[in-house]
Amino acid sequence: MGTVGPRVESLASSGITCIPKEYVRPQEELDNIGNVFEEEKKEGPQVPTIDLGEIDSPSEVVRGKCREKLKKAAAEWGVMNLVNHGIPEELLNRLRKAGETFFSLPIEEKEKYANDQASGKIQGYGSKLANNASGQLEWEDYFFHLVYPEDKRDLSIWPTKPSDYTEATSEYARQLRSLATKILEALSIGLGLEGGRLEKEVGGMEELLLQLKINYYPICPQPELALGVEAHTDISSLTFLLHNMVPGLQLFYKGKWVTAKCVPNSIFMHIGDTVEILSNGRYKSILHRGLVNKEKVRISWAVFCEPPKEKIILQPLPELVTEKEPARFPPRTFAQHIHHKLFRKDEEALPN
Ligand SMILES: [Fe+2]
Repeated sequence: MGTVGPRVESLASSGITCIPKEYVRPQEELDNIGNVFEEEKKEGPQVPTIDLGEIDSPSEVVRGKCREKLKKAAAEWGVMNLVNHGIPEELLNRLRKAGETFFSLPIEEKEKYANDQASGKIQGYGSKLANNASGQLEWEDYFFHLVYPEDKRDLSIWPTKPSDYTEATSEYARQLRSLATKILEALSIGLGLEGGRLEKEVGGMEELLLQLKINYYPICPQPELALGVEAHTDISSLTFLLHNMVPGLQLFYKGKWVTAKCVPNSIFMHIGDTVEILSNGRYKSILHRGLVNKEKVRISWAVFCEPPKEKIILQPLPELVTEKEPARFPPRTFAQHIHHKLFRKDEEALPN
């Protein structure tokens, strides 16, 4: 405890007016980091909103129309706001309340749950460690743990305050797992495959891992110099995201950073690299990043649906590979894919 460097929250509350240099982004990124509240108001292309109300309709025609919209959004954007997703608003509010209450505890309380990345204990309370030569850091603290399948959870590291945390988070995970199945089914049919195909390819009920990361972005005295999360694509199959209605997420769409507008009661969803690879690039995993601001704390709840690290070789499904559309991705396990991305990033971060 206390040996892992300052939490961003403690920096933010220390009264500093200039952020430490590790948090200042390199010049090429600074050119276009704006005030996120102004950015959110801008007109222009926007993340599609998909109404899932009809995805279980008794009519195949109606279901088909719903799937088409989802497919189009997955192919054009790789992200979307899901509405009428079937998860009760009351449960979403309980989940948010539980996470907010945990993060409102004093830092010393939260440190009792600190992870230890050096020893491989990645679940728990943490902040990013510098993983490249520049020592670059992000303006956020987080809480990370596996939430599904239930027999793979380590409940001993889950917050005990507030008392509703475990129940609210578990129920959300269960409902999200069903939603993931529905989405994967629609995406499979959209590729001309049998409905259960993608679900099976990412590990099915036993092996697909749902990992929750609560991202806590404190107020930042110099938001025009920092990022909450640097630009990346998600490695998951799907990522589901909730937030506290404070803007911050930006998508790199057609060569420009687009700030996602906050849509009430929606669940934001990403297509991750895993589905991009399996679909041979027909569905997109979009580059995105997180801005911070000097007015409001932003909190988001990301659930990454990840295939097992070693058991499955990820590669474009053979049905989607043709002479005209050769495989765009080499076969890799999920672990190899992660390694490949980290390695590339390290190289890019080195001078020259
Ligand atoms: Fe992400």
